[in-house]
Amino acid sequence: MEQTMEKLLRAKEYITAKTDLVPQAALVLGSGLGAVVDEMQIHAAIPFDEIPGFPVSTVTGHSGRLVLGMLSGVRVAVMQGRVHYYEGYAMQDVVMPIRLLAMLGAKILVLTNAAGGINPEFSAGDFMLLRGQIGCFVPSPLIGENLDALGTRFPDMSAVYDEQLRACVKKAKPDIREGVYIQFSGPQYETPEEIRMAGLLGADAVGMSTACEAIAARHAGMRVCGISCISNMAAGVQKTPLSHSEVMETAQKIMPEFKDLLINTVKEIGGIL
Ligand code: HPA
Repeated sequence: MEQTMEKLLRAKEYITAKTDLVPQAALVLGSGLGAVVDEMQIHAAIPFDEIPGFPVSTVTGHSGRLVLGMLSGVRVAVMQGRVHYYEGYAMQDVVMPIRLLAMLGAKILVLTNAAGGINPEFSAGDFMLLRGQIGCFVPSPLIGENLDALGTRFPDMSAVYDEQLRACVKKAKPDIREGVYIQFSGPQYETPEEIRMAGLLGADAVGMSTACEAIAARHAGMRVCGISCISNMAAGVQKTPLSHSEVMETAQKIMPEFKDLLINTVKEIGGIL
């Protein structure tokens, strides 16, 4: 695991040589949600494939850059795109960027994603604030020798999503939906039977990211907040077949509202720093 820490330190060195901006908060922008970066005063924009040891995404709709700068008066590091477990990376590599963000100094992490709605009261185009998560259907990103410099071997997960940060999101959008996110590996969309199971387990939305990242972030001591854009209703809840183009289309449609939500959320976060 020494290798993992060496890789992280090398990546950190590469970034700190490009900018001396120390982020207060970090954001991960999900599928088709990257345009929030347009609202930033950019200090440095570094393509993922330039950063040594950084996993590079292969899915369309993920442009893959780490952008450091100012958003709503807060120093932020923004991941425009992410890698997913289904791309073939080990979970430890999938969460490498999250650990790097923590090592760059970010104490707060805002995770965003596109997700399928399981809760029948949701509709495509809704936003859901994450209240909790079910991550045990994918391997833990903490498996392997523990990185003691980041966190403890057996980290507590009883409050993954920070209450004060959730209050910030609710101030930014009082009528936002709230619920539990479940991560499956993908890349295939779920069967209606799997979605029924997930609903019985208490999940309100389903996706292929985020829960593993939240675990790694909590391990590293970050305060975490999560927002899902419900891009479609999950299999069986919606009667038509699911497609990636539908997911991207909804993301495109809600982009102005999503931008506002993030800008206002970060403004609220600025008030509690
Ligand atoms: N399932 C899994 N991941 C997703 C979905 C879905 O329905 N929509 C967007 N990401």
